Amino acid sequence: MGIVEKIQKLKKEKNAVILAHNYQLPEVQDIADLTGDSLGLSVEASKTKADVIVFCGVHFMAETAKILSPQKTVLIPDKNAGCPMADMITAEGLRELKKKHPKAKVMCYVNTSAEVKAECDLCCTSANAEKMVERALKNEEEVIFVPDKYLAGYVSKKLNKNFILWDGYCPTHVKILPGHIQKQKEVHPTAEVLVHMECPEEVVKAADHALSTEGMCRHVKASRKKEFIIGTEIGIIHRLKNENPDKVFVPAYDEATCPNMKKITLDKVLWSLEEMRYQIEIPDNILQRASKSIQKMTEYLMD
Ligand code: 13P
Ligand code: SF4
Repeated sequence: MGIVEKIQKLKKEKNAVILAHNYQLPEVQDIADLTGDSLGLSVEASKTKADVIVFCGVHFMAETAKILSPQKTVLIPDKNAGCPMADMITAEGLRELKKKHPKAKVMCYVNTSAEVKAECDLCCTSANAEKMVERALKNEEEVIFVPDKYLAGYVSKKLNKNFILWDGYCPTHVKILPGHIQKQKEVHPTAEVLVHMECPEEVVKAADHALSTEGMCRHVKASRKKEFIIGTEIGIIHRLKNENPDKVFVPAYDEATCPNMKKITLDKVLWSLEEMRYQIEIPDNILQRASKSIQKMTEYLMD
């Protein structure tokens, strides 16, 4: 039996569902029940009847799935698949910042640990950050927005609202430079340029649209354009090509890879199901508090 068949067999036996983030290796995306963005996957997982979630992504994403489905077993096939941006802020560091701004409301990007989420009033994703600020925080005098200074800067500029920032950023997205986009535009002059909001301001300026990963997938499907320059982690191109075989996708910079996302391999997925490891565990008091910041987000987005 091949590795894919073994995974499928075990998945059935254990009543498991496999989720893969848009940046996962192509072969991992291909065996997943669902491929999507950081929060969308967890929300979908909470709706399934599966007992086990194998989360092919980075640690904070698997934690978010656990927060939304505490009764399910959530596995991450490599416990060292972390997000360096999420690791740039600790709960203690945030508590210190909150002490300096006791009246401020605190919003965290979903790219944070459960411990950090537990210190926040609200959570957001790149797909809804702008909407969240507009709906929940526009009239607040002081708002702390952590940890991504570029996502916060993007929203700040769009809504003309200042935030108290954290010096966090994504080491993969800062590799993409305006010069890379310029170069690709010269070769593909009719292509539309899509970049992630985690990119620095000058890169966003050089693009036609700044979007989340799921936003990019939606945008491309709906667009009449045939060619796209993609300014984000290159793993997403596999999904874009699969879903749009008649369109052409060019990475803005082909070295924009997230080494942590690539730690998940088919071997590790199989091992994870065989050994039921690594299980995500979150202390109950942290899980409850972190869950509130995510619940608040879903409440504000309902309409
Ligand atoms: P998305 O929520 O847009 O998938 O982004 C997650 C991420 O880690 C981007 O680097
Ligand atoms: Fe974290 Fe950046 Fe990797 Fe996304 S691409 S998981 S933000 S390091």
